[in-house]
Amino acid sequence: MADVSIQPKHFLSDKVERFTESVIREMTRQAMLYGAVNLAQGFPDFPAPAEIKRAAQEAVAADVNQYAITWGAKNLRNAIARQMKEWQGIPVDPETQITVCCGSTEAMISTLLAVCNKGDEVIIFEPFYENYGPDAVLSGARPIFVKLRPPANTDDEWSFDERELRAAFHNHTKAIILNTPNNPTGKVFTRAELELIRDLCVEFNVLAITDEIYEHIIYDGTQHISIASLAGMAERTVTINGLSKTYSVTGWRVGWAVAPPNVTNAIRKVHDFLTVGAPAPLQEAGAAALGLLPSYYQSLATSYCARRDRLVPALAEARFRCFRPRGAYYVMTDICAFGFTDDLAFTKYLVKEIGVAAVPGSSFYHDPRNGAQQVRFAFCKRVDTLDEAGKRLQKLRGLRKK
Ligand SMILES: Cc1ncc(COP(=O)(O)O)c(C=O)c1O
Repeated sequence: MADVSIQPKHFLSDKVERFTESVIREMTRQAMLYGAVNLAQGFPDFPAPAEIKRAAQEAVAADVNQYAITWGAKNLRNAIARQMKEWQGIPVDPETQITVCCGSTEAMISTLLAVCNKGDEVIIFEPFYENYGPDAVLSGARPIFVKLRPPANTDDEWSFDERELRAAFHNHTKAIILNTPNNPTGKVFTRAELELIRDLCVEFNVLAITDEIYEHIIYDGTQHISIASLAGMAERTVTINGLSKTYSVTGWRVGWAVAPPNVTNAIRKVHDFLTVGAPAPLQEAGAAALGLLPSYYQSLATSYCARRDRLVPALAEARFRCFRPRGAYYVMTDICAFGFTDDLAFTKYLVKEIGVAAVPGSSFYHDPRNGAQQVRFAFCKRVDTLDEAGKRLQKLRGLRKK
């Protein structure tokens, strides 16, 4: 037999060398290891609504236990189309425009695999939800980053420079990824900002892929606007959403992509061969969830606002500079007061010595130096969990800048 020595990387693709495992999910493992309060990963530690849990149990009992239609159960697609019309005034044909996936995570990667050729450029605002970087690599696209800049006054909004955004668009641009309400900044894009993005998408013939998973989690009278609702955008937008955040069921793995029929056809092909379909009984429960009364969404936003207003003062007292989120359930903070050289060393100290897990800011930037003085906390937790974290964080008050 030939003497074939196996190098460590012999069986691996070049692609996987270009990204690491999720830092956010790693922080959850660290929280468990050190018995820390987990304000890292964005999943609720409180129960999902009783009605939708019942709907899931009933679907299993009624033997909705085999493959659903690959692009989604009819009841759920109908409910998604109805909700998009009601909330955003966007007409959607449930037969030709919706693909139900295993979470919005799969909806995003299926969309990028369906639309990108090698070398296509995809514009991403940064800081960004960490999946978008590996998603771009896996689909062969080249990510082009445009900065969202923190406000000088932490009560103001994160913003981007119009000229920098325009300079990112050119011939090879295939798509722009938007996320509003935004993780990690809490920014909710305004109509004027979305119109500017719309104008560039039309001028350069670019697709908008918009992750709106925090659509219903908004504060301070802020309004969520779907870019697909703007004139000229329905035919060039993929809107991604899911059950995870709105209904506190991140483990169900049900999300969807809404797109024009030709793009939907391509997404459905990729989705079919990636996963065949999302969990059938949970899609039926999803249809029930989307039928909840408007008061459900009001109290969801109100209760998250109360959680934000519980955690932010505790962080501020412990000397974090907190950028006030207008949506989603995270607060991005500046850690300059503590004198650590970088965010990784600080989050390690936080999880081991203080007993609170958070996400290092660098995991939201392509150049880690940009997030070296930032840390993100999630507040999708019970009030007593937030209070316990707040109490532990006060130990930082004695920490002197080196
Ligand atoms: C912006 C954003 N998109 C998508 C997801 C994941 O959503 P899903 O559970 O539907 O895959 C998250 C989870 O934290 C997120 O923050």
